[in-house]
Amino acid sequence: MTSQATSILDKIPVAVAVVSDTGAIEYRNHAFDETFGDDGNWLKEASRALAGERGWLQTFFIAGEPRSVDVEVDGRIYRVDQIMTAGDQGAPAVALSFEDVTAQRQAEQAKSDFTAQIVHDLRGPLSGIQGTLEFVLSQEGTKLDSMYTDLLTEAQRESERMMNLINEILDFSKIQSGNFSVETEPVRVAGLLKRAIRSLQSVAARDEIFLVSAHGRDIPQIIGSVEKLTQAIINLISNSLKFTPKKGLISVGAQIVRNGDAPESIVITVTDSGMGIKPADLQKMFEKYKQTGNKSFRGGGGTGLGLYIVKQIVEAHGGEVSVASIEGVGTSMVMRLPVKRAA
Ligand SMILES: Nc1ncnc2c1ncn2[C@@H]1O[C@H](COP(=O)(O)OP(=O)(O)OP(=O)(O)O)[C@@H](O)[C@H]1O
Ligand SMILES: [Mg+2]
Repeated sequence: MTSQATSILDKIPVAVAVVSDTGAIEYRNHAFDETFGDDGNWLKEASRALAGERGWLQTFFIAGEPRSVDVEVDGRIYRVDQIMTAGDQGAPAVALSFEDVTAQRQAEQAKSDFTAQIVHDLRGPLSGIQGTLEFVLSQEGTKLDSMYTDLLTEAQRESERMMNLINEILDFSKIQSGNFSVETEPVRVAGLLKRAIRSLQSVAARDEIFLVSAHGRDIPQIIGSVEKLTQAIINLISNSLKFTPKKGLISVGAQIVRNGDAPESIVITVTDSGMGIKPADLQKMFEKYKQTGNKSFRGGGGTGLGLYIVKQIVEAHGGEVSVASIEGVGTSMVMRLPVKRAA
């Protein structure tokens, strides 16, 4: 770097350092010294990760990677931005700026915690409403006027949608804050299918859709979260319910995939005879807020978070999710879950 350039950099109030891909700090401005003291050891630590495992510093040397990361140093959070690639003679180097964003991040966190708390608290009263509706609708002896039955059924359906939405928002905010982990309890796969189907059977019946399940006899247990996996299957079935016409069929199944004799993974599929998905839309469906142009037969628009959350849940279990679809014929969503989860 020219001496003119360095003298300019020394005057600006933002911490700047030029770091080589071997991790050496080739240049540091005044503000950098003032912010971090002279040792800069933490940066060397980060540099060391270059050699072995991928550290945050390394991302700046990979083409196409994001050029901004948050880094924690001594309890404070700095946003590190790449100002430019600065490799003069041969050795690659990057000029990085370091901005203290601790207060900003804390405020953001407080805001999203607050939102999550409110959304969470909506769940209590809503399940009260659901329980009441269920109770009234289950009173067979009393002759409810059919108009009231229809209205109450509609209310039940809407409250179900709201509950799903609330659960999605909560999962989404956990994923965003990096706090999304799943339990490690033994999970009976047949039980998952049963729970998911039970919760949507009445919706399916109302829409005149056959919702069936089929699974082999000795499906081994997997390790994970009953609640999250049930939620994932429910998300898939509710999509199928939205995009399958009357008299359609939705089947939920589970199969063992073996490696030799040993069960290696369990494949759970949700297949529908619905409108299908365009090949071009197949991959992006799993991204957040992504929806295809498909018009649902019922049940409102949704937020486009369902499949994103399914993907996060399945991946948190060490598995993967995929889709196969033929337009006008139907869609099959496939979740593959390992029998033994890696630590
Ligand atoms: N079984 C299916 N058949 C046809 N299209 C589907 C099917 N499942 C998903 N899709 C398409 O993928 C999009 C994304 O699905 P996703 O579950 O992520 O969001 P959503 O159902 O629109 O909203 P949300 O689940 O958040 O209420 C849907 O809007 C729809 O266009
Ligand atoms: Mg959905």
